Amino acid sequence: MVDVLLGLQWGDEGKGKIADYLTPNYDIVARFQGGPNAGHSLHFNGQKFVLNTVPSGIFRDNCLNVIGNGVVADPVRLQGEIEKLILAGVDVKSKLLISKKAHIILPTHRILDAANEASKGDKKIGSTLRGIGPTYMDKTGRNGLRIGDIISPTFEIQYRELVLKHLKLIQNLSYTDFDLAALETPFFESLDFLRTFQLIDSEYYLNDALKQGKKILAEGAQGSLLDIDFGSYPYVTSSNTTAGGVCTGLGIPPRAIRKVIGIFKAYCTRVGSGPFPSELMDETGEQLRQQGNEFGATTGRPRRTGWLDLPALHYSVMINGVNELIMMKSDVLSGFEEVKVCTSYKVNGVETTQMPFEVVSASIEPIYESFEGWKDDLTIIRDFNNLPDSFKSYCHQISERSGCKIDIISVGPDREETIKC
Ligand code: GDP
Ligand code: IMO
Ligand code: MG
Repeated sequence: MVDVLLGLQWGDEGKGKIADYLTPNYDIVARFQGGPNAGHSLHFNGQKFVLNTVPSGIFRDNCLNVIGNGVVADPVRLQGEIEKLILAGVDVKSKLLISKKAHIILPTHRILDAANEASKGDKKIGSTLRGIGPTYMDKTGRNGLRIGDIISPTFEIQYRELVLKHLKLIQNLSYTDFDLAALETPFFESLDFLRTFQLIDSEYYLNDALKQGKKILAEGAQGSLLDIDFGSYPYVTSSNTTAGGVCTGLGIPPRAIRKVIGIFKAYCTRVGSGPFPSELMDETGEQLRQQGNEFGATTGRPRRTGWLDLPALHYSVMINGVNELIMMKSDVLSGFEEVKVCTSYKVNGVETTQMPFEVVSASIEPIYESFEGWKDDLTIIRDFNNLPDSFKSYCHQISERSGCKIDIISVGPDREETIKC
């Protein structure tokens, strides 16, 4: 069977930590979408690792890790990531399997990402500039190159044809700030490196594993509110980050899915542009950023911060069919006099608990409910019963209103700083 683990907000909910925490229960961890725009942090035994493309089961013995067909992989970054893991003593060669159908991010995709963003002026998405959008465009536009193509003798011809198309597009955007030759040398070296790895027909591999009764954890990247269909379009990423992306991104049937585990922070953050109704632009927002160390794992950018948004959480629970909730970064809320949650919006003067279609230009005013704060240091607590009462009532309200029970509460970045409810 397959369990799905995905983010319910705008990414960076703590998927890496929880995937790593849950992996002793699984034989395989499989990433189903996204690419190196993701940065998943794992803390254990006093060490910290950030994974971009490699699934978060890589540090566990007896756990295989699949980069699924729905992922877009940058060979250069993937090589760098794998080399770091090997240096840390991880046997990546035997534990990592890469789908032949995963699409390749070319150096010109990264240049196109930069050229597109530069041409957008004040309408920038705030992309991570990792080439994600252009690579998915080539995938759906039926131009892309896939990992399986790198073993073809005609790969270089296919590559040159696509690069020519890209260069025309880049020229149309009048973008000149790049040196393609300097990017191509490491690119071709990284292809040689990747050819020595297990490149597989992952849909057969995963379905065979299911037949043998193996347990698979499907690991998502980004968050539901960045989904290409259901996020705050156009301020989104270019893949289906929601549960639907699991079947297309791994080639497994919907009936193989047992449960969907949704992760959210006890408050909200967002990196990059786009609507964020409960954003705090004041001292409280700054306090959240500092206490939560809200700086991007991939780009180091400061994250925008705000109170928990319940209509958005409820929406994500609905779209994904979440059966279990995991609340992250609960420790960060200690020390606030009062903790607020957004319970509804006023959209152009009308109150609603639904996510409006027009999120970009509409005036969305958050309506808040206030909770009594708590001062206790939650990072040292391991038993639900020992948590402060005001925190427990905060959790209770979130469960009630999102329509889903909270199963795990995270009180710190380390594997051990986790409470099973
Ligand atoms: P991901 O992209 O969803 O895997 O999340 P990131 O790794 O980008 O961002 C989450 C950040 O919060 C990382 O720095 C984690 O180490 C950290 N983190 C995860 N869980 C907790 C928690 O419960 N409390 C605190 N204080 N930090 C956490
Ligand atoms: P993880 O997996 C947070 C955001 C970018 C930008 C938008 C589009 O670590 O949660 P893209 O590079 O995909 O074209 O950027 O999406 N974004 C993320 N924000 N966490 C992520 O991944 C993100 N991946 C992309 O900041 O606003
Ligand atoms: Mg992240």
